[in-house]
Amino acid sequence: MVDYIGTERVQELVTRVGAASFMAALATEIEADYLRWSEFTKSPRHATHSNVGVIELMPASDGQLYSFKYVNGHPKNTARGLLTVTAFGVLSDVATGYPLLLSELTYTTALRTAAMSALAARVMARRSSRVMALIGNGAQSEFQAIAFHHLLGIRELRLFDTDPAASCKLERNLQRLALSDLHIVRCATTAEAVRGADIVTTVTADKCNALILTPEMIEPGMHINAVGGDCPGKTELHPHILRRADARIIVEYEPQSRIEGEIQQLEPSFPVTEISAVLSGAAPGRADDREVTIFDSVGFALTDFSALRYLYRLNREARDGHAAIDLVPELEDPKDLFGALAEEAQLRRCAGLRPLRQEVPA
Ligand SMILES: NC(=O)c1ccc[n+]([C@@H]2O[C@H](COP(=O)([O-])OP(=O)(O)OC[C@H]3O[C@@H](n4cnc5c(N)ncnc54)[C@H](O)[C@@H]3O)[C@@H](O)[C@H]2O)c1
Repeated sequence: MVDYIGTERVQELVTRVGAASFMAALATEIEADYLRWSEFTKSPRHATHSNVGVIELMPASDGQLYSFKYVNGHPKNTARGLLTVTAFGVLSDVATGYPLLLSELTYTTALRTAAMSALAARVMARRSSRVMALIGNGAQSEFQAIAFHHLLGIRELRLFDTDPAASCKLERNLQRLALSDLHIVRCATTAEAVRGADIVTTVTADKCNALILTPEMIEPGMHINAVGGDCPGKTELHPHILRRADARIIVEYEPQSRIEGEIQQLEPSFPVTEISAVLSGAAPGRADDREVTIFDSVGFALTDFSALRYLYRLNREARDGHAAIDLVPELEDPKDLFGALAEEAQLRRCAGLRPLRQEVPA
């Protein structure tokens, strides 16, 4: 049997731990894995594009465990009442190749993305950062807000979205958390939200080279957490921001970021640093208080590996037991796969049961 975590179970697990503590624990797991970067088999994700979106497969392995995530990105989905991003994934045992866990990863992607953003900001943003502009107030935004409040000490959050209803939703959800030390300001434009902010998080969705941030908005010392640009032809920053003489660009995994990140707008030799080098202390995340730091996030498979392993453990440690599904046959004779299949079919016939395949009325 293979452990199974559906959306309801993730809701339960996260509620028990608390979203902020969950992301803090996940950030610790992610950091530990980035610190053993060389142990991982890594590759850019496999992306299948269409006019309206992308479906991606993201594998990672440390030689003991293997994981992959299926994730989509369809910015127009929300107009049809669907999520822009959905995901699920598998954690497997490398020694046998058997899957250990099949899990939802839609909530988990939002949690791990925010945990990763906060982890990067911890080594890149100015320590005194208290004000964050949050541009794009959709499905990912609460997670970013909570992670930066809890892990970075953000105390003022400036919201802007081209859809005012999205900002209303974000404000309402944050107010429900009753974070007395978080001041929320709704802004009329991106420029207004960004002015004077220590950190700017962009988490918008549009399949184009958008200009969410333009050069005149950027002030010395700012940290930009650019999350929404994550596909070829889907970016958020004006290229002049990336080319600033005082800018430092940090990415997750350079070969993938060259294809999908903000840096797809730059020549392949433009210098960038991987976050693993910054976390290990091999490279600085920021040189001084006036440098503009840019975390060009696209989402890397290693982060999902950490998240799946964390969920697997949390789920197993829970006192109320855990669900499992029969994804892999369990056989007395592992060479007799056909015999087991025929036996199952025969038993069902004898018992007058319908075949296992569900008939869907036309
Ligand atoms: N880097 C990563 O690891 C990672 C992980 C998850 C999602 N993402 C990306 O983050 C983005 C947001 O995801 P989501 O699930 O929140 O999507 P969503 O569709 O729920 O929200 C996106 C929001 O952006 C707003 N928006 C679009 N254009 C804008 C503009 N010009 N200015 C201000 N707001 C604008 C939309 O109105 C919407 O409310 C997507 O592009 C997704 O692909 C990245």
